[in-house]
Formats: sequence, structure tokens, C-alpha cells
Amino acid sequence: MTASTATTVESFRPALHYAARNTWLNDPNGLIHHGGVYHLYYQNNPVDNVWGNMSWGHATSPDLLNWTEHPVAIACDEQEDIFSGSIVFDRHNSSGFGTATAAPLVAAYTSAFKAGSAHHGVQAQSLAHSLDGGYTWTKHASNPVLNRGSAEFRDPKVFRYEGPVGSYWVMIAVEATDFQVVLYKSDNLKDWDLLSSFGPANATGGVWECPDLFPLPVDGDPENVKWVLVVNLNPGGPNSGSAGQYFVGDFDGTTFTSGTTVTEGVQDPDRLGEYQWLDWGRDYYAAVSFSDAPDNRRLMISWMNNWQYANEIPTSPWRSPMSLAREISLHAVDGRLRLAQRVAEDPATVSGLSPVFELAEATVSNETLVLDGAAGSVQHIDLTFTPGTAEEFGLVVRTDGTEGTRIGIRPADGRIFIDRRNSGLTDFHESFASIDSAPLLPIDGSYQLSVYVDHCSVEIFAQGGLVTLTELIFPSATSTDVALYATGGTATVSGLNLTRWA
Ligand code: FRU
Repeated sequence: MTASTATTVESFRPALHYAARNTWLNDPNGLIHHGGVYHLYYQNNPVDNVWGNMSWGHATSPDLLNWTEHPVAIACDEQEDIFSGSIVFDRHNSSGFGTATAAPLVAAYTSAFKAGSAHHGVQAQSLAHSLDGGYTWTKHASNPVLNRGSAEFRDPKVFRYEGPVGSYWVMIAVEATDFQVVLYKSDNLKDWDLLSSFGPANATGGVWECPDLFPLPVDGDPENVKWVLVVNLNPGGPNSGSAGQYFVGDFDGTTFTSGTTVTEGVQDPDRLGEYQWLDWGRDYYAAVSFSDAPDNRRLMISWMNNWQYANEIPTSPWRSPMSLAREISLHAVDGRLRLAQRVAEDPATVSGLSPVFELAEATVSNETLVLDGAAGSVQHIDLTFTPGTAEEFGLVVRTDGTEGTRIGIRPADGRIFIDRRNSGLTDFHESFASIDSAPLLPIDGSYQLSVYVDHCSVEIFAQGGLVTLTELIFPSATSTDVALYATGGTATVSGLNLTRWA
């Protein structure tokens, strides 16, 4: 590889998002805030930048922006690959893995048993613990602790349930090809009793993976708490490939009852638009929330990629970024309970940056208006569009006038879209060049957008994060302009401000 090609390839390395130094990653695992830092473990191939040798990589951050990579935390061996899972702080040493002076962190992960194991072909749940705050881990001698003899039983998310019926550990995991979430309970993290199961329901166009279950107050009201069940699925997302759906309902300590089930059983995929999605873009998968986030916040990170083309995206020596960490909240909107998402820690505040470009108000009329002085390849853009007579309006990011990524709204269709067909490198996989859309309605006549552009991604939070679209792009390093556009008439832009890192 020539020096100039190497520079071009490395120019995709994200500035605001985590990516491993020189290896492959997929799902975030074991997210926990502990010892004053955020721990991000992740599905990692420690020796290559394609999927394989699955182990848990590890990074920490004080602020969800600046990450430090650490040595592999839990490594695969001849017996097992270490698939996805979660970590809890076992503060009262219920597991007995602690000492008189140190309570353990306990990881629950899926052992994907290999040919070297007596359990070959089975996926079952196993434990490891750490007494040094999450940096070194010891596998439990009696693994696996929960084995159903299934080849598709994976992705345990453990949390502490405290409710009217008691206080105990709950594990939720999937029977992936049955489109089922299964719930178990335990007092010691080692012995698990079945509580209930959920599914199939709503989207079933692909295997169910990486579930999560957590309570959230509706519109911040502590007297009105609902439970959110997140089910990632692959493929079968609203714009094809990997995606995350969610259900809102109640959990009584045994059973999750969904109040948002539209269709029960295994469906044909025609009703995808009726289900609730964490994100409508093509690159937001395996989303899962942190344990013990400060101030009771519900913070999530996802893998910013799609299994359709994950192993082929044109980055090197690393492959796949994580999303920004998002804070999730629950709201009653037009008679529906819906999640809203916003970036958990404002990267501009963490970086000490102020906007470099501001526009109080401007009308765009049948034109593409390049914003002078706003160019960059890592930006956060906030703005509001109020439709005039235009049939379509929006912005173009990472553009040089020839290539660009278009973020557009078509009010008559009630939709927002991201068009990356001409975003730069797209031909590394046949399904990458896409135009993907989501339903979007005006609020008080306007559309508010918050857009994070990084070297290889665009994350769009629309209408206060009620709708999000997250996608990878691979533009030329020289495509740095930002433009506003309107076709077929006028649209007014107000309150635009832009922060730039590069
Ligand atoms: C989701 C997933 C999980 C599994 C892991 C393996 O992307 O398929 O179900 O645990 O990746 O890397």
C-alpha cells in the first residue's frame, strides 16, 4: 500500500466515536460505569480486522468521548468463543467471587462452544469475575452456569430487579431463531430459574439478538414507570439488514407484558413501518444499555455497522466504530409511548468548543446553498427547517459538489431520508449504496435536526431524538462542504449552529 492510500484509508478513523486501534469489533458488551469511568467491552477479534476469534476487547472513558484501549479482557480459547453479554457490580458479593475487601464485577457472557469442547455446538451462559475494577478477569470453574442444550441461546443481559415481589438478579437472553426473549432469576448469579418468555412479536424478519430490559419514567414522572424491552434483530430492519426494535410495557418481576405489540407470532415483513425502532438507519445494531450509569440515566451504545456488509467496509487496520453514547427517555406522544434519544455527553462541551458557524435565519429557494466557513469533516450541526413551498429540503454533508450525503425531508410524504448512494466509496458491497427513510411529522410546523458528522458516519437526531437515523459513509477526505437545499420551492432554516472538530 502506498503512503497516500494509507493516509486516505486512515482518514476514515472516527474522531468522536470509539474504534479499536487495529482490530475488528462488533457488539458492545458489559457496559458499566464503575470506579469513576465508563467501561466499554466489545466483541473483538484480537488478531484480525474481520469477525472471528471472538473475545471481549476493552476500553474506558471518563466522558464517553475520549477512550483508552486496554488489553483483551476475556479471551477465547480452544473450548469457546466469548460471545456477547453484560456485567454487573455484585456489591454484596452474592456470587461469592469477592473477597473480604473487594466486591466483584461479574460478567455474564455466552460461551459459543467449539470443537475442542464437550459442549461443542451449544451456546450457553457463563461467568467471569474481576476484582481489580474490570481490567483482569477470571473465568468461573463451573461454566456454563445456564445451559439449555440450545445452539442459539445467547446474549445475556443481567440487571438487579428491586420491586414489590422481591430483590434478585434477572437475566434476559434470546433463543435467537425462535424469536424469543427468555427471562431467568437468581440470588447468586450462578443458579438460574426460568421466569417467563416473550415473543415472537412484531419484527421477526431475522434472528433476535442482544436483548435489554429496563424501567423508564414516562415524561420524567417517577409515579408512572414503564419497562422497555429492546430486541435487536438481524436481518429484518426497517431499511433492511440489522436493526433494533423495542416494546414498551410492564414487568412484574416475572413476566414482561408488551403494550405495543402490533402483531404476534412470526410475520411477513410488510408491517415493519408499524413497529417501534431504536434507529431507522442501516448502521445501528446490538444496542444495549449501561449498568450503574450515574444519576440513574439510561445510556446506550450500539455497534455502528450492519451484518450485510460489516466485514467489507473499507477501513484499515481497524474495522467498525461504535455509535455515540445516547441517553434514552420515554414520552407519551400522540397516544403512543415512544423513546427519545440524545447524545449522552455533548462532545462540544467535553471538547471545550463553541460553534464556528451560526445562521439566525435564511430562506432557501430552489437552490443548493454551500455554507461559507462551515466546511469540515467532523461536525455537529443543529438547525430547524420550516417548510415553505418546497417539496423537499434538507442538507448535504461531506460534499464537494459532486459527491455528498443528502439528508432530506419530504413533508408531503411525512418522511425524512438519508441518501448515501453518492456519498463516496460505496462499491465494496452491493447493498451499501442506499437511500433509507423514516416517518417524520412536523412539530409546531417545523422539523428540528441535530446531526453528528464524523470521518465515516452520520447520526441524525430528528424532533428531539424521537426519530434517529445512523449510517456509515466513506467520503473523499476533500469532501468537506455543508450545503442547505430546497427543491420545488422554498424552506426556511433557523437557529443553525455548527461545531467543528476537524
Ligand atoms: C450480534 C451477535 C450476537 C453474538 C455476537 C457474536 O451481532 O451475533 O448475537 O453474541 O454477535 O459476535
